Amino acid sequence: MHSQMQTQGQVPQTSQSAESSQAPLYPIEKIRAEFPGLRDDYAFFDNAGGSQVLKRVADRVHAYLLSTSVQLGASYEVSRVATERVLAARRSIASLINAAHDEEVVMGGSSTGLVYLLVQALRPSLQAGDEIIITNIDHEANVGAWRRLLGLGVVVKVWCVDPVTFTLPLEQLDKLLSPRTKWLAMSQTSNVLGMVNPIAEAAARVHAVGGRVCVDSVAYAPHRLVDVQACGADVVFFSFYKVFGPHYAVMWGKRDFLLALPNLNHGFIPADDLPYKLQPGNVNFELSYGCVGIVEYLESMGLAMGGTGTQRELMQFAFDQFARHEDYLGDILLQYLRSEPRVRIIGADSMSDLRVPTICFVVEGMQSEAIVLQMDQQQIGIRFGDFYAKKLIADLQLQPYGGVVRVSMAHYNTVEEVERLVAALRTIISPSAA
Ligand SMILES: Cc1ncc(COP(=O)(O)O)c(C=O)c1O
Repeated sequence: MHSQMQTQGQVPQTSQSAESSQAPLYPIEKIRAEFPGLRDDYAFFDNAGGSQVLKRVADRVHAYLLSTSVQLGASYEVSRVATERVLAARRSIASLINAAHDEEVVMGGSSTGLVYLLVQALRPSLQAGDEIIITNIDHEANVGAWRRLLGLGVVVKVWCVDPVTFTLPLEQLDKLLSPRTKWLAMSQTSNVLGMVNPIAEAAARVHAVGGRVCVDSVAYAPHRLVDVQACGADVVFFSFYKVFGPHYAVMWGKRDFLLALPNLNHGFIPADDLPYKLQPGNVNFELSYGCVGIVEYLESMGLAMGGTGTQRELMQFAFDQFARHEDYLGDILLQYLRSEPRVRIIGADSMSDLRVPTICFVVEGMQSEAIVLQMDQQQIGIRFGDFYAKKLIADLQLQPYGGVVRVSMAHYNTVEEVERLVAALRTIISPSAA
């Protein structure tokens, strides 16, 4: 989908294709008003590092702390309200990710922490010689915890990205699979390449040999509606601070699978007490409640943009419109980057359904840090480095540049911001042309 998006007051009528001219207006002002941290004098393009937070989320955290900050589970009224708020949060997250059962929703402080918990719970089920496949593109969150299993004698194999297409070739996965494959740990989208990976196809292959799949959706969830059932994985996790919420995370697993895991909470908690047995010390109540604001926002944006139907259909509609807008923004930057002979784009060089606007590049003869430092002075927030996808940066031989420059967009970024970004990059990369 490459359509241009009509953006209120931003994209001239004449620049629209026939297809996009039928699209509803993209209510950028209404969207931006939901994020009080956004500023006209500052362009935030480090959204894959951390997105802006919805006022609705902050208001709920505030409301929880100042009106229901009591322990859950007691019979007095305020405790009952607090309990219901936290349960409502779990239901809300279940609907966001399309979980079949609320108790499949495990919450925790971070994605990294949740994967450690998962792997801890898996230890008793693994033996020396069992095989785990990781990728060379993943963030360390879905690598390090698995690698620690080497101490058990588990074999860790690495599925490598094609350095030309930046995709994960399924035929390479086929070569790594064996009857001893227990887990594949992969990302739905790389936080560097921005490419959407073939989860369902990979999961079908892994399931065929009796293994399971753990998916990092952190870089995917801000751009597409997560559907844990449709994606075919066994475990899916992501962090809310990338999806317009607080520093908090969710991990989903199929109920039967989670039920079979050992209890990680207090010793007396029954093994069928889901998700409590996997949330040692319990969840963060106020942040859980804050996350309700994410779903509320997506639903209300779906309605505002002309969607109809169920809550999920409205959320899907909102994400579809966000994706069209993001495609438009991403293509402005990619078109510019393609025009610069010294620039190498690390990922697909145009937007599509299989690419999100997390756009990385290097410039021949320049250190990535030097570019970012100059952008800082122009009040444009981007960053450089390996983004904890260390093996990817090493395997693509991008260390001599100090890693990649990353521009990561969100649905609340504007055409003007991207044009400002491009103008600033031009003065740095090819000053004589600027
Ligand atoms: C793709 C990806 N996965 C995992 C993480 C880790 O998330 P958390 O900070 O919640 O542990 C990040 C953080 O940047 C990420 O970008």
